[in-house]
Amino acid sequence: MDQKETIILAIESSCDDTSAAILKNNAILSNLIAGQEIHSEYGGVVPELASRAHLQNIVPVVSAAIAKARINKADIDAIAFTKGPGLLGSLVVGTSFAKSFAMAMNIPLIDVNHMYGHVLAHFIDDKDRDKPAFPFLCLTVSGGHTQIVHVKSPLKMEIIGSTIDDAAGEAFDKIAKLLGFRYPGGPLIDKHAQRGDPKVFQFAKPRVDGYNYSFSGLKTSVLYFLQKQEKINPDFISENLDDLCASVQKSIIDVLFVKLVLASKELKINEIAIAGGVSANSELRSRLISVGEQFGWKTHIPRFEYCTDNAAMIAITGKFMHEAGLHSNQSVSAQARIPFKSLV
Ligand code: KG4
Ligand code: ZN
Repeated sequence: MDQKETIILAIESSCDDTSAAILKNNAILSNLIAGQEIHSEYGGVVPELASRAHLQNIVPVVSAAIAKARINKADIDAIAFTKGPGLLGSLVVGTSFAKSFAMAMNIPLIDVNHMYGHVLAHFIDDKDRDKPAFPFLCLTVSGGHTQIVHVKSPLKMEIIGSTIDDAAGEAFDKIAKLLGFRYPGGPLIDKHAQRGDPKVFQFAKPRVDGYNYSFSGLKTSVLYFLQKQEKINPDFISENLDDLCASVQKSIIDVLFVKLVLASKELKINEIAIAGGVSANSELRSRLISVGEQFGWKTHIPRFEYCTDNAAMIAITGKFMHEAGLHSNQSVSAQARIPFKSLV
């Protein structure tokens, strides 16, 4: 094998997906995800069930990722894993696996912040996409986070705005639940919204300082509106489902862009990316293109499979950290909440 090649195995287990990926230099050779259907019955992720499913899935998923990449275990130069943020019991499974693997194979161990992973997914080799140039702004929107990140270099980032209550994905999922969808409802709102008219219903717009967000008021506004309408017509939701979805989706995305546009103007940064599970949303993706054209932005939209949680993004982050010598030792432990700080 060429001396300069670096092969990284990465593990992501922060929530309800068990994922393993193999990265060779900056290219993904495999990125497998075992999802957990079980949670949809409960209307949200049940932490105990998630940890147990990770335990069942982790070895088969890693073996399959190694096999799919057509490498041998002995070719792996380092192992990266998600240290946090996320559900502690879920993170512990990935962390314990990674520590054991590193010890058994005598290779470096790299603990990755999941939120860095979402941002750095943009640096996975992709012949159809340009990588963002530094500095850029990344709107990271997921089930647990909504943040505008000022990315100065791969390992130097600062959060300049974030949600003061619910995350955008959480708003999608909670409102989806009110509309009768199973968990996670974000993708289902997206699907129905494509057939609806976004101008039919209007909901409360938050007023928050700076580049921060708030979504809990929107959820309450939708709740009260639905309760009122259902008193008049019990079939209100089913008769208006597509328009409701389109209107809710527009409200969330309008809010996201107000602050993103403000940050871009004030910081004079025209290189703009989106990341995280909600960046899979079709309206958010198309809006980034149209707003980007309006303001002369160079925009970056991740490949669909790198939006929601995946180990490929942990692998590429691990690669940057490996190059910088940012390894951890065997005393590292999983952390449900983790400060977001620059690594260099
Ligand atoms: O990044 P992610 O996979 O997990 C976290 O780190 O939270 O994000 C999951 C979130 C969920 O809230 C899910 O409903 C949302 O992303 N999501 C979407 C779409 N696909 C995933 N929300 C709106 N439209 C979508 N197409
Ligand atoms: Zn995530």
